[in-house]
Amino acid sequence: MVRTIELAPSILAANFANLAADAKLALEGGGTLLHVDVMDGHFVPNITLGPPIVASLRKAIPDMTFDCHLMIENPDEYIPAFAESGANWISVHQEACVHLDRTLHLIEDHGCKPGVVINPATPVSTLDDVLDLVHHVLVMSVNPGFGAQKFIRNALRKISVLAEERERRGLNFRIEVDGGVALDTVADVVRAGAELLVAGNAVFGKGDIRENARKLLQTARSATSSDARGRKHRESEARKQGKRRASTAG
Ligand code: DX5
Ligand code: ZN
Repeated sequence: MVRTIELAPSILAANFANLAADAKLALEGGGTLLHVDVMDGHFVPNITLGPPIVASLRKAIPDMTFDCHLMIENPDEYIPAFAESGANWISVHQEACVHLDRTLHLIEDHGCKPGVVINPATPVSTLDDVLDLVHHVLVMSVNPGFGAQKFIRNALRKISVLAEERERRGLNFRIEVDGGVALDTVADVVRAGAELLVAGNAVFGKGDIRENARKLLQTARSATSSDARGRKHRESEARKQGKRRASTAG
């Protein structure tokens, strides 16, 4: 499966008083998805935004994919409104959905791409029966609710398990990672198998937004290419080794 590395700037870290302008800068820096964090103060201890803000952003940024991350209880009640307001992808937490199969179908029925999210303490195995239904799986590498938190390295193992499971079952869901993705962690998440990279503080935190996004994406992509080069090198070495063994055995 060819992986396309994409950057999804998370507007949670942007200046809400200047949201559309900040978002556009991050997209000019190479972001191809806009990550929209929706928090209800119940599922997570923070409150952010709802469908009206998504609708306003949609007017200001008509042609960009909106990746809406719902950290809310009872997501079924709000999925139609987010779809109507301009969401393209909607992801819900496995921990918040009593009837996850039904919820994922509801997202699809409203014309959006369904995604499922797991918190740091939730095993990948909880998703076994929905991996063939989802467009993407979002692995949280922080406990949801806030930006600028420290990256939880256990997420790397979970990303690799998901990539292997995808390969083993011949599925094609995409792997997204969210929380603490920055210049010092992005290469590891890409090497583990993630391709959709959510970043808030690393893009909007400090300095030039466009430049931050560009550098992060470049670091991510060079991790894959050095990996590919490394793999190629290892494979040709193995072939040479095989030939040598064959000739000495002969
Ligand atoms: C946290 C959110 C993340 C957050 C990422 O609950 O889901 O999307 O904004 O921000 P950083 O990249 O700063 O950790
Ligand atoms: Zn998020």
